Amino acid sequence: MITLALSKGRIFDETLPLLAAAGIEVLDDPETSRKLILPTNQAQVRVVLVRASDVPTYVEHGGADLGVTGKDTLIEHGGQGLYQPLDLKIAQCRMSVAVRADFDYARAVRQGARLKVATKYTQIAREFFASKGVHVDLIKLYGSMELAPLTGLADAIVDLVSTGNTLKANHLVEVERIMDISSRLVVNPAALKLKQAAIRPLLDAFSQAIAQGTHAA
Ligand code: ATP
Ligand code: PRP
Repeated sequence: MITLALSKGRIFDETLPLLAAAGIEVLDDPETSRKLILPTNQAQVRVVLVRASDVPTYVEHGGADLGVTGKDTLIEHGGQGLYQPLDLKIAQCRMSVAVRADFDYARAVRQGARLKVATKYTQIAREFFASKGVHVDLIKLYGSMELAPLTGLADAIVDLVSTGNTLKANHLVEVERIMDISSRLVVNPAALKLKQAAIRPLLDAFSQAIAQGTHAA
């Protein structure tokens, strides 16, 4: 049996075409079912549904043999104990710094002010500002980052941006692009050894689909 860890929503939805390319069809819809273990049309493959930020942990500790996770989540986890063979090019977005439209970010940085930065991505934010030599006080949040500059909790946020609609709706502007983000396949190294015969064909089918570029929006 191979177990694939996915999170509900965009990762699940965008992984489906890759699974289809490998001849795998998930037999339950996570939006309507309460099940956390989903069977597939292949008796030896199942999908487990976990929080997006728990995917690396499940795969690292063998609760799943492989999983799909954003580069953001992978960096925050640390990536230890994970083989990362493929960039699946799905769930594409970017990690950025944003501030209120009336906040002079360039000036604050130039003057060496200590910035208050709210984010769920503390590792990425810490490394980014350290590399710029900007002193920051990091405030860890778990969601709705956009609210932080609007309420005076922080001067800036580090968050994911795709269309920019969420920033615009909250009168925030993007002032730095930190990195491009997409989702990766992560594999438990012991599982890869022990279950080569089942996992390798899956990796091959995924790489072929990625090379053809037909699976990603
Ligand atoms: P958790 O439930 O663990 O807090 P989450 O709410 O961040 O995680 P999702 O919103 O499903 O989970 O995001 C999963 C991944 O999709 C993110 O880690 C990121 O790589 C990517 N992602 C997030 N937002 C976007 C977006 N607006 N457009 C494209 N990709 C995105
Ligand atoms: C993500 C991210 C931003 C938004 C950016 O949230 O945290 O808020 O997408 O996308 P945009 O630039 O296209 O507006 P998501 O939609 O995943 O909501 P969630 O974090 O509450 O799950």
